[in-house]
Amino acid sequence: MPSHEGNGKTVFITGAAGGIGRALSVGFAAEGYEVVVSDIPAQLEGLRATCALVEAGGGKSHPTTGDVTSKQDCDRMVADAIGWTGHVDILVNCAGILHAKRLEDLSGEEWDRHIAINSRSVLYMTQAVLPDMRKRHWGRIINIASLAARQGIPTEGHYAASKAAVVTLTRVFAQEVGEDGINVNAICPGIILTEMAMNKLGGQEQVRFWEKATALRRLGQPEDVVGPAIFLASEKSDFVTGQALNVCGGLYFH
Ligand SMILES: NC(=O)c1ccc[n+]([C@@H]2O[C@H](COP(=O)([O-])OP(=O)(O)OC[C@H]3O[C@@H](n4cnc5c(N)ncnc54)[C@H](O)[C@@H]3O)[C@@H](O)[C@H]2O)c1
Repeated sequence: MPSHEGNGKTVFITGAAGGIGRALSVGFAAEGYEVVVSDIPAQLEGLRATCALVEAGGGKSHPTTGDVTSKQDCDRMVADAIGWTGHVDILVNCAGILHAKRLEDLSGEEWDRHIAINSRSVLYMTQAVLPDMRKRHWGRIINIASLAARQGIPTEGHYAASKAAVVTLTRVFAQEVGEDGINVNAICPGIILTEMAMNKLGGQEQVRFWEKATALRRLGQPEDVVGPAIFLASEKSDFVTGQALNVCGGLYFH
C-alpha cells in the first residue's frame, strides 16, 4: 500500500534510468505523483532500479522504453503511459547526452546526434503529450536544459547549441499552448554530480575548481533539481511560463 496519498496526477519523465531523471522520479513519487519512467531499451535495468526506489518509498511507477529521437517511439511511449493511468499531466524532458569535443574536430554526425537527442526529443515528446493535455485544459512541461545554454564553453559547443535550442523551444511552445492551460518552462542545471558530469570533469582537481567558482561552494546533487521541478509542476507556479530557471548553486547569474 502506498505510504502517502496520491494526488491524482501523472508525470512522464524521460532519461529516468539514472542521474537527474531517477532523482526526479523518486522526488515526484514522494509528492504523490504517479510516475512513468522512460529511457532507451538498453537501460531497462536502470529503469527497473528507479521503479524499485519509487515503490520502496510507497509510490507508483510504470516503466516504458523507447528512443526519444524517434517520433514513433515518443508517440508509443505516451500512449503506453495514457493506457496506464488514463492521462499525462506533466512531462519532464530529461533525456540527454554530452560527448565533449572541440568544435573544429566535431563531425556532422556528432552534431546531429546531440541535436536529435537533446533538442528534437523535446519537440517530439511535447507534440506527443499535447493532445491529451489540451483535452483537460491543463498541463505542465518541464525541459531540463543546461547552464551551457547560457554560455558555451570549450569542448561543449554542440551541447550548448542543443541546450540553447531547448530554451528557445520552451519559450515558443509556452506562447503557442498557453491559451490551452499548459505551462512550459525549463530548468538550467549547473554542475550536478552524475555520471555525465564526472565523465566531463575527469577528476577531483576539476571538482575543487568548480566548487570554488560556485557561490554555495559545492556542486549539485541530482536531488537539488527536484524541488524546482516540483514547483514548476505545481499550482504554485500557475503564472510562470516560458522561463528558464538556473539551478546551479550560484555558478552563473544571467
Ligand atoms: N549532470 C549535469 O551536470 C547536468 C548539467 C546540466 C544539464 N544536465 C542535463 O540533465 C539531463 C540528465 O543528465 P544526467 O546528468 O542525469 O545524465 P545521465 O546520463 O545520467 O542521464 C541521461 C539519460 O538519458 C538517456 N538517454 C540518452 N539517449 C537517449 C535516447 N535517445 N532516448 C531516450 N533516452 C536517452 C540515457 O540513457 C540516460 O539514462 C540531461 O539532459 C543533461 O544534459 C545535466
